[in-house]
Amino acid sequence: MQGKEKFVAKTYAGLEQILKEELEQLGAENCRIGTRAVEFEGDMSMLYRANYFCRFALRILWQVHQFTFRDNNQFYEEIYKYPAEEIMSVHNTLAFNVTMSGNMFKTPLYAALLAKDAVCDRFREKFDERPSVNKDNPDIQFNIHIFNNNAALYLDASGESLHKRGYRVSSHPAQISEVVAAAMVKLSGWKHDCDLIDPMCGSGTILIEAAMSALNIPAGFYREKYGFFNWKNFDRKLWEKIVNEADIKDDVPINFYGSDISTRFIGMAKANVQEARLSDFVRLQRCAMSESAPKRTPAYLIFNPPYGERLDMEDIEDFYKQIGNSLKQKFAGCTAFLISSNMEAVKRIGLHPSKKTTLYNGALECKFLRYDLYAGSKAK
Ligand SMILES: C[S@@+](CC[C@H](N)C(=O)[O-])C[C@H]1O[C@@H](n2cnc3c(N)ncnc32)[C@H](O)[C@@H]1O
Repeated sequence: MQGKEKFVAKTYAGLEQILKEELEQLGAENCRIGTRAVEFEGDMSMLYRANYFCRFALRILWQVHQFTFRDNNQFYEEIYKYPAEEIMSVHNTLAFNVTMSGNMFKTPLYAALLAKDAVCDRFREKFDERPSVNKDNPDIQFNIHIFNNNAALYLDASGESLHKRGYRVSSHPAQISEVVAAAMVKLSGWKHDCDLIDPMCGSGTILIEAAMSALNIPAGFYREKYGFFNWKNFDRKLWEKIVNEADIKDDVPINFYGSDISTRFIGMAKANVQEARLSDFVRLQRCAMSESAPKRTPAYLIFNPPYGERLDMEDIEDFYKQIGNSLKQKFAGCTAFLISSNMEAVKRIGLHPSKKTTLYNGALECKFLRYDLYAGSKAK
């Protein structure tokens, strides 16, 4: 691959702008925001770099063919033209994922079957053998985006979603996506210049993402595998060069404090923090938020309280009132950010948010709210 290639980075709704900025900082060219995606251009090193360093991307796709078609036959022929043998061998498994708008096919599944036949027929024609399909864990994942009679064929360079950083050894029933946690840290405007506290830390996601960002640890540092490792053109030397671009700090003059009311969840956070080799930086303690307080101010709080949907809360509105009381009584002099989908409950915090941003936690539309906790913050 030489010269400029076209790529797409996928993300969650609301994170497109910070992903675009992140890609530009990494050297991506001609970045354009799409729906839950950013298109960009670059060479193979850019593709590797985006996979390794992007905190706000879910996956990176490489556009390998683009065409218009008038019917099923032409669609098949266009996919058949793509020299898949340059990327995979007959012994690799493959899968197609199709997203479609318009009515060129009855279902995206039918388009996926046609495309799979086209690639397999090409192999049979050339080598008398065809690769097999593995929908769950393919070596080579193709994506096709169809918009009316326009289609683009992509190779998924990431494989498993990039939110799977590789440090999570323990899963919380209401854990936040690593990508959303990293976005919360970024959108808070925290400059790594004061302590960071998560008083409802669950499995520790926000603390780990914050520590990774402060220490400059790449998003992919703990990950063992990417989809493009399976490609025939995988350039291991280039990959090692990209990995060596990381400029990780040994230390930072701040601390990360996590607490949670549940002993079990503090255990999970400990396991994840240890896996991320961040135990020297992240201090964890079992305690209720009402018992926690900053060791020094100013400090930032970034947290993800229960919304009353996934966890059983007897009186979620009263619970949020208690959060408000703790913020006012214990965290004066701090800046607090919380994410919640429960706006009725949030009103009970009794503080006026100075900023509100819409973010998504999975399918849930949430607000990410900022509270400036001056000494003597009053109820609304
Ligand atoms: C939505 S979960 C947080 C998930 C976390 N962000 C993660 O990624 O794993 C909310 C957490 O708040 C904790 N919690 C509930 N009430 C609490 C309280 N009064 N004080 C401290 N933690 C509390 C729960 O135990 C739970 O782990």
